[in-house]
Amino acid sequence: MGYREIYEKGLDRIRSIGMEPYLDLGAETHSQNRLNRQHLDSFVFEMRMLDSQQADTATTLFGAQLRAPIVAAAICESRILKRLAPWDPPYLEQIAAGLADAGSMMSTGMVTLEELARIVDQGAPVLHVVKPYQDDEMVLRHLERAAELGCVAVGMDVDVFFLEKAWDEVPILVDSGFRRGTDVLKALALGANGVGIATLLVVACAGGGRDGVRAMMEALYEELGRTMSITGCRSVGAIDPSILHRAELT
Ligand SMILES: Cc1cc2nc3c(=O)[nH]c(=O)nc-3n(C[C@H](O)[C@H](O)[C@H](O)COP(=O)(O)O)c2cc1C
Repeated sequence: MGYREIYEKGLDRIRSIGMEPYLDLGAETHSQNRLNRQHLDSFVFEMRMLDSQQADTATTLFGAQLRAPIVAAAICESRILKRLAPWDPPYLEQIAAGLADAGSMMSTGMVTLEELARIVDQGAPVLHVVKPYQDDEMVLRHLERAAELGCVAVGMDVDVFFLEKAWDEVPILVDSGFRRGTDVLKALALGANGVGIATLLVVACAGGGRDGVRAMMEALYEELGRTMSITGCRSVGAIDPSILHRAELT
C-alpha cells in the first residue's frame, strides 16, 4: 500500500464521523501550520543520483536502532480516535505496536503511568515526554516510572538557555507539519537527528489500526530512501545542508 492509499483510507473514516476539521491542530487561525508548510516547501533538492542502490535510512537515537529517523511525536489521547471506538486493543497500544513492527520509536505525552506501562509492553523503544506539571511530585513520579519501565529517554519542556549548554549531547528531534519522506529529508539536512509525526499516526491508525501504522511508516521509509538516493545521500550520516536550495519564486 502506498502513502496515498493509506492516508485516504484513514481520512475517509475520519470524515465519516465528521472529525476532519480536528485533524488540523493549529491554534485558532491555523497560521502556524500554513507558515510551517510554506517554510518546508520553500526548500528544493539538488539532484545527485546515486547508482541503482537504495540509500540506507537506518539510524540510532538514544541508543535505539531504528529503521529510519522517523519516530512518533509525543502523543496521548486523540479525540478523533476516541470517537472511532471501540478499540481492542486500545488505539495508543495499536500505534505503539505498529511502530514496533516498523522498527520505529514511540513517544508518549500526557498519558497515565498505567497507559505508559502498557505502551512500553508493545516492544518499541519509548521516549516519554513529561509536561512541566505544577505538581513537582508528579513530574518526579513520571520521570522515575519512565526510568523503571526502561524508556530509552525522557523529554521535558525546558528553557532554551539550558538546552544550549547540553546541545552537543542531545539529539535534536523536530516535529510539526511533517507529512512526507521529502519533508523528513529536509529536516535532516537542516540539522535534525530525528523527525516526529503525530497527525499521520492518527490518520494511519484510523484507517487500519496497528497494520495501518506499520504501513504508513513503511511508506515514509520508502519515500525517504528514494529521495536520499536521488540526492546522493547513501546513509543518514551523509545528509548535509548542501542538498537543499531555497526556491526563489516571485
Ligand atoms: C493525538 C495527539 C496527541 C498529542 N499529545 C501530545 C502530548 O501529550 N504532549 C505533547 O507535548 N504533544 C502532544 N501532541 C502534539 C504532537 O507531539 C506534535 O507536536 C503535533 O501534533 C505536531 O506534529 P504533527 O504535525 O505531525 O501532528 C499530540 C498530538 C496529537 C495528534
